[in-house]
Amino acid sequence: MRVLALLDGTIVDPEAPLLRADDLGVMRGDGIFETILVVDRRPRELGPHLDRLANSARLMGIALPERAAWERAVRAVVDDWPWETDPEMALKLVCTRGVDGGDGTPTGFAMGMQVGAETLRKRNEGVSAITLERGYAPDLTERAPWLLLGAKSLSYAVNMAAMREAESRGVDEVIFTATDGSVLEGPTSNVVIAKDRVLCTTPPSSGILKGTTQGALFRAAEEHGWRTRVEKFDTADLFAADGVWLASSVRLITQVRTVDGTPVSADADLHAELCKLYESNY
Ligand SMILES: Cc1ncc(COP(=O)(O)O)c(C=O)c1O
Repeated sequence: MRVLALLDGTIVDPEAPLLRADDLGVMRGDGIFETILVVDRRPRELGPHLDRLANSARLMGIALPERAAWERAVRAVVDDWPWETDPEMALKLVCTRGVDGGDGTPTGFAMGMQVGAETLRKRNEGVSAITLERGYAPDLTERAPWLLLGAKSLSYAVNMAAMREAESRGVDEVIFTATDGSVLEGPTSNVVIAKDRVLCTTPPSSGILKGTTQGALFRAAEEHGWRTRVEKFDTADLFAADGVWLASSVRLITQVRTVDGTPVSADADLHAELCKLYESNY
């Protein structure tokens, strides 16, 4: 199931070709994207997702179409989705730099898709994870802006290769680490740990994506008396924590059960509490 809309709000055939072969998004992965969860017609964290899309465009020097165009495309896909049979949708917003040698007009579209069975399994059952080196220092972000750390670019080949590496080792997920041993993020998620009713996640200044799901969880947690921290922590802290989660828009708050083959604390009540906090936003 796919529903595809252009930025003028037109619904187009998702099985018909849309991009030119010389689109820089195809030729170089030169573009940006967002993935948004929509439940019962309501997009979650749309504002933060559009803010992050704008930030990615700024970091990459892409002339992003105006916000109203994205909102129009989102509305068009939501209005066309079969909510009676599919109450959840993963909505992708994609913007490329446009065609090679063109006038810089970006290519943009919004596409709704079903949530995959594997994603639902991870949500419900929790995951095993391995740590893999990402190969950069957490202070590289400011020194080397051309590396686009913190931009949600279309160049996800490395992230997907890391997921395949995990699969080849019989593991569900990856937690990337920096050269100083600190925890970065997952290939498609943020890492959250809990210790003594304090939630902690890695700062975006370490070159990771600012998570909208983690942001929503922390917002609700603070309202309900939890303390939150956005600061660096090490792999050892995963094992010392009361719980470890991977947070992302479609997979939501996924409990981590093992890291590098060793069990981490995975309390069912604490997991249920965090899921409830996150859901209390909606
Ligand atoms: C690299 C990376 N980090 C973190 C996230 C989590 O972001 P969000 O919660 O906004 O989906 C994602 C989302 O796909 C991601 O790709």
